[in-house]
Amino acid sequence: MTKQIETSLCHMASFAPFDDVSGASHFPIYNTGTFDLKKQKGDKIYDYTRSDNPTREVLENLFTHVERGAGCVCTHTGIACVSLLFETVLKANSHILVEADCYGGTFRLLKIFKEKYNVTVHFADFLDFENLEHILATNPIDLVLCESPTNPGLKIIDLKKVADLTHKYNALFAVDNSLATFISQRPLELGADFSLFSTTKYISGHGAVVAGAIVAKTEELSDKIHYYANAHGRSQNPMDVYLISLGIPTLKVRMAEHEKNSILIAKFLEEQDYIVKVTHPALKSHPQYDLAKSQMAYIPGLFCVDFNSIELAESFIENTKLFGEKCSFGSPDSRVEIPAKISHASFSKEELAAIGISDSTVRFSIGLENVEDLIADIKQAVKK
Ligand SMILES: Cc1ncc(COP(=O)(O)O)c(C=O)c1O
Repeated sequence: MTKQIETSLCHMASFAPFDDVSGASHFPIYNTGTFDLKKQKGDKIYDYTRSDNPTREVLENLFTHVERGAGCVCTHTGIACVSLLFETVLKANSHILVEADCYGGTFRLLKIFKEKYNVTVHFADFLDFENLEHILATNPIDLVLCESPTNPGLKIIDLKKVADLTHKYNALFAVDNSLATFISQRPLELGADFSLFSTTKYISGHGAVVAGAIVAKTEELSDKIHYYANAHGRSQNPMDVYLISLGIPTLKVRMAEHEKNSILIAKFLEEQDYIVKVTHPALKSHPQYDLAKSQMAYIPGLFCVDFNSIELAESFIENTKLFGEKCSFGSPDSRVEIPAKISHASFSKEELAAIGISDSTVRFSIGLENVEDLIADIKQAVKK
């Protein structure tokens, strides 16, 4: 029987590598470093948790299934899966093509790969296909990487088109799916070779843990990420797997609620005279609104707002009572931050300006609270 994704998420225990004799609803947590080879009865060999662990395998099997891939590695943070991707695909002197609007941690990591391994990083606007094709045609690109929606610019990239273009020039295509998650979009089905995501965000959903995962499309690529994950020690510990698993069955209902709440708040903000611009892919004013609707089942509750002054943006954040000034997103509590100061502090002002982000841009992550409460809080925060 082919199960829909939300059904698989609610039956995670069925992805456990062993038959469970107890009938427990949740899978067991094997909190162990090593395994006794003499006592193993199954076909699969476990020797050391850095390489393989039956608890981690539940999540890896589940993510492989829901992303429609061939294999997965769960990592100890989201940025560790970006590192693992680079360690797997790039060599000294490699070329990588990256959407310029990317997470600050990815940007910092690219600088490190450039400085230490002489990797050439080509940043580009992935909406400009002519330029993308020009870069691919004139450089030996090994890897193409983008997010969609992008963080913080909330651009929507046509993943199928970029996958086709990437493969025309024999490069690999990886998508950071942290914002949309597999409940909304599955990059591998659209042609990507890797889908990676920070499970810290919507997937765990409660802001209680940091972690990530990377899913490969083919067995060959899956073997490679497993090899490098073991070699570099990227794997996730079993207790964190447990914490993440607690949020997974409710992913669909949470994403629908994040989307609904965030649209109401974005629409409210769009009408205020102190706001210059609201960038939310679910609003008709977004330039890729149609693509956002066709590529994603749920649009994440993350959006950016340009206030009419830096002072107002800062005092709003100071005065608000329900929006914590926090990085990260996808938690039940709403958050705000100035990307230039926190999540994207590794960019220069000029680099941020090039992707449309200024000091008066505030990024909102809308949670699961009552929307009227959130709107009342915004109203009092700008009045002071
Ligand atoms: C798009 C994106 N990718 C990767 C990461 C890194 O994830 P983590 O913070 O779990 O290491 C983040 C973190 O904010 C992110 O926004």
